[in-house]
Amino acid sequence: MKVFNTIQDLRAYLSDFRNNSKIGLVPTMGALHQGHISLVNESKKQADITVATIFVNPTQFNNPEDLEKYPRTLKGDLEKLQAANCDVVFAPETKEVYPNKPEVSINLGAITKELEGKFRPGHFDGVGLVVSKLFHIVQPDLAFFGQKDLQQFFVIKKLVDELNFPLQLQMVPTERELNGLAMSSRNMRLSETEKEEAGLLYESLKEAQKSLLSSPSTLTVKATIEELFKKSERLSLEYFEVVNTSDFKPLQVVTEKEKTALCIAAEIGGVRLIDNLLLIS
Ligand code: PAJ
Repeated sequence: MKVFNTIQDLRAYLSDFRNNSKIGLVPTMGALHQGHISLVNESKKQADITVATIFVNPTQFNNPEDLEKYPRTLKGDLEKLQAANCDVVFAPETKEVYPNKPEVSINLGAITKELEGKFRPGHFDGVGLVVSKLFHIVQPDLAFFGQKDLQQFFVIKKLVDELNFPLQLQMVPTERELNGLAMSSRNMRLSETEKEEAGLLYESLKEAQKSLLSSPSTLTVKATIEELFKKSERLSLEYFEVVNTSDFKPLQVVTEKEKTALCIAAEIGGVRLIDNLLLIS
């Protein structure tokens, strides 16, 4: 496995492969777990050469404390990527990606103002900016993102469609713990009891999925989920919404089943967790 810290070295290495190989890109912020590795595995299946990037992107954090607290575990990450037979890792310093404070900004419109966008203003603009940079730096044929961050996937899809990036996006299903809790770097900060209780996010999504498949109105489902969370001692519900994936606006009635997603965010022990299911999955 080759590890690069500079854009120049990475580009020089990849230039030999460009003409005759499919390059797969897996962008990450490190603190890797099995969810990230499943993206690498998918890229290994579909591409000839897999490039994983590890970069904690400052422009997507709206809270400086969150950025500082973000786990940095490069040594362990490299071991995990090596074990997954990843071909190339790009792990730049902040200055390599942002030599100066960027003056360019990317705003992907209304979709970035819903759900996660409401709780984290400016977050998706920062994601759009860094992902555009990574696409230009690596120039992949395929890029892999997790369903875990469903809204992020659709924001990036908009970026690719509207700016004509010549690549194919792939969404990889969410990896979960045995109790259904979606794997996340943030789970490290949960106690065993909290992890057990956080299984309620997935349970309630499954429950809501079942009832929405038999009745399209979202109001009773939302009320049921809110009641479930009121009974939980440690978890507090931030939102549960049924949305259309074209704009992530909350729906009162499901009309296009194939485009409907159930999204949830909750807080436990000072840790914010998100999860989702597609109505038809
Ligand atoms: P990060 O949170 O490190 O996630 C990197 C990728 O792993 C994302 O595509 C995310 O959806 C995926 N992922 C996380 N948990 C997963 C799980 N349990 N199952 C499957 N995939 C999972 O998302 C980011 O970093 C950043 O915003 C980034 C796109 C790298 C831009 O900075």
